[in-house]
Amino acid sequence: MAAVNYNREEELKAFDDSKSGVKGLIDAGVAKKLPKIFIRPADELAKEFDMHKTTNLQIPVIDISDIEGSDAREKVVNEIRTASLEWGFFHVVNHGIPLNVLDEMIDAVHRFHDQDSEMKKSLYDRKNHVRFDSNYDLYSTKSASWRDTLTMYMLVSYPLGPNEIPTVCRATTLEYLKHVSNLGNTLFKLLSEALGLKHNRLNDLECGRDCAFLCHYYPACPEPELTLGAARHADPTFLTVLLQDQLGGLQVMHKNQWVDVQPISGALVVNIGILLQMISNDKFKSVDHRVVANHVGPRISVACFFAGVVAPPKPYGPIEEFISEENPPKYKDFLVTDYFAKFFARALDKSRLDEYNL
Ligand code: OGA
Ligand code: NI
Repeated sequence: MAAVNYNREEELKAFDDSKSGVKGLIDAGVAKKLPKIFIRPADELAKEFDMHKTTNLQIPVIDISDIEGSDAREKVVNEIRTASLEWGFFHVVNHGIPLNVLDEMIDAVHRFHDQDSEMKKSLYDRKNHVRFDSNYDLYSTKSASWRDTLTMYMLVSYPLGPNEIPTVCRATTLEYLKHVSNLGNTLFKLLSEALGLKHNRLNDLECGRDCAFLCHYYPACPEPELTLGAARHADPTFLTVLLQDQLGGLQVMHKNQWVDVQPISGALVVNIGILLQMISNDKFKSVDHRVVANHVGPRISVACFFAGVVAPPKPYGPIEEFISEENPPKYKDFLVTDYFAKFFARALDKSRLDEYNL
């Protein structure tokens, strides 16, 4: 066994107490080498060599500009069904959100993370609806990830006050929220049809009502092969719409290998979350993904997590259309807040889905 020549707990606490995240380490000039708390365990690093094969596979790209005519719509619905079954991930293009809205959102996240660290420190709190942090799972994960995050919960029943969204990104965030919520509504209709349900079924369940924005900042990393930007995980929500810049780093697990999601200008990445897997009784499954670290950076991404009705409590469970004597429910009913409490109490790579098995 390797000698424990440093006090991990102390270093984690010092990092946490700095309230300045990974960017704080870089600004302080202490990250010329990768600090130990970010180095992945040796056995994990060794497995990478078996795992990472080069492949030119790509997640499907789906053009949703033409979904009004019944033939055109059927084509798109079929593409979404196939992509969801085979990948759990797809790119959408011609989704109707103007390019400048996307670009401005990315710029706004840059501005947030680039601003004076005192402002970010004041938001470094693990409970608020708007918060800045790095590695929410710092004390439960085996190695910390090379990433800082601004999180904003947009709950319909507890709307953010006009001054709660940081000034540097307020107007842009509200504009993007409007567009991405509309897109969510469209995607839930198409996904309903892809699942063989009435087109409003998932929207009637309000799957796209409350959402969380996770605005990630992945700084340039001195030793990217020793760490990750985001550990392997599945998303704990119904659906995720991800906006990313052009640097790349996201990888999707497909047929037991990591496939790079090559950024496409103007496109958004869509993926099935664990909650949609549960209510579809495993018809669609959430797929693991991660972000690799990079010598080049910072990379920016904005994940919009559609979380259904987070508050007030609303029970969800496998949809009755999918249940019969031959197909009994595979999952217990759940409240989104209870599931979140479980998920966020452990490291990102623990989905806790098995605790809902029937
Ligand atoms: C996430 C996520 C990917 C990315 O926030 O859950 O997987 O590219 N993000 O930032
Ligand atoms: Ni994710």
